[in-house]
Amino acid sequence: MKLLVTGGAGYIGSVVSALLLESGHEVVVLDDLSTGHEDAVPEGARLVRGTLRDTAAEVLGGAGFDAVLHFAAKSLVGESVEKPGLYWDKNLGESLALLEAMRVAGVPRIVFSSTAAVYGEPESTPILETDPTRPTNPYGASKLAIDTTLTEYARLHGIGAVSLRYFNVAGAYGRQGERHDIETHLIPNVLKTAQGERDAVRLFGEDYPTPDGTCVRDYIHVADLGRAHLLALEAGAPGTHEIFNLGSGSGNSVLEVLEVCREVTGREIPAEIAPRRPGDPAVLVASSEKIRTRLGWKVERDLHTMVADAWTFLRSR
Ligand code: UFG
Repeated sequence: MKLLVTGGAGYIGSVVSALLLESGHEVVVLDDLSTGHEDAVPEGARLVRGTLRDTAAEVLGGAGFDAVLHFAAKSLVGESVEKPGLYWDKNLGESLALLEAMRVAGVPRIVFSSTAAVYGEPESTPILETDPTRPTNPYGASKLAIDTTLTEYARLHGIGAVSLRYFNVAGAYGRQGERHDIETHLIPNVLKTAQGERDAVRLFGEDYPTPDGTCVRDYIHVADLGRAHLLALEAGAPGTHEIFNLGSGSGNSVLEVLEVCREVTGREIPAEIAPRRPGDPAVLVASSEKIRTRLGWKVERDLHTMVADAWTFLRSR
């Protein structure tokens, strides 16, 4: 297939681009390089530098694309609370420009990078795709608005859409890994502390209603996540919008993650308890039943492998 990958210079988009190329697809990456890195775009993919608003119509017009995989987004929860307008503009506004460009060019399918943040504070776990969506920050709200827009474009314009709602993505795949300038995620922060880049990793809260008092999250290897996109590409029937959670179905606490990082690196990794981070739900675990039964997807790599791959990637830089 001829595929457009928006945000293909970012962490997840670059891994998925690499997997698509390995499967024999033709890949064009569209990225404004605002947070992505040019050298993260895998060899064999063509990079077009630009925003969706300015460039999507031109790239897609008359070019015979079979589908779009849409990763380009602002994705920092904290920043979204400070600058909600930016998140609505970049996430929803630019996605609308992309969808219009697809409609005009007659591109029939899209796979969209949605998030667990659309569910907000869950009433029960594991979270099902049919559970209420009550995002607690503009990041999650803007992603949910895109999901809603996709439902409408499927119903009214006949596109085939699939949304994958990611839980906590970690690990690396070959030359592609996590390289955020502002790093907020647990595993890279712990590993950077192991490297001596920080004095101690801060553990946000030890008084949550969980077995060890720290938050529980559903970690998924970026290569497992990437494989789900290949399956989703085949699943987007015209006129339908399918939504799948992407998680492992089980969770690990912050302290468990720290312990695995200590095992993998063989280093002490100093840690200090810090106050709770506003907006963190105690437990976020996905039901992965739907994607397993419908698309035959299952997790192949465990937390140990995620941390080991992230550690190899970090040390290679
Ligand atoms: N944490 C720490 N110290 C750190 C970083 C994180 O203790 O230095 C804790 C957090 O408080 C949380 C857990 O580790 O309890 C995981 O935090 P991450 O920032 O790694 O991931 P989140 O669960 O906050 O975020 C993920 C996605 C977001 C998405 C969110 C949905 O990365 O894109 O889930 O709630 F919005």
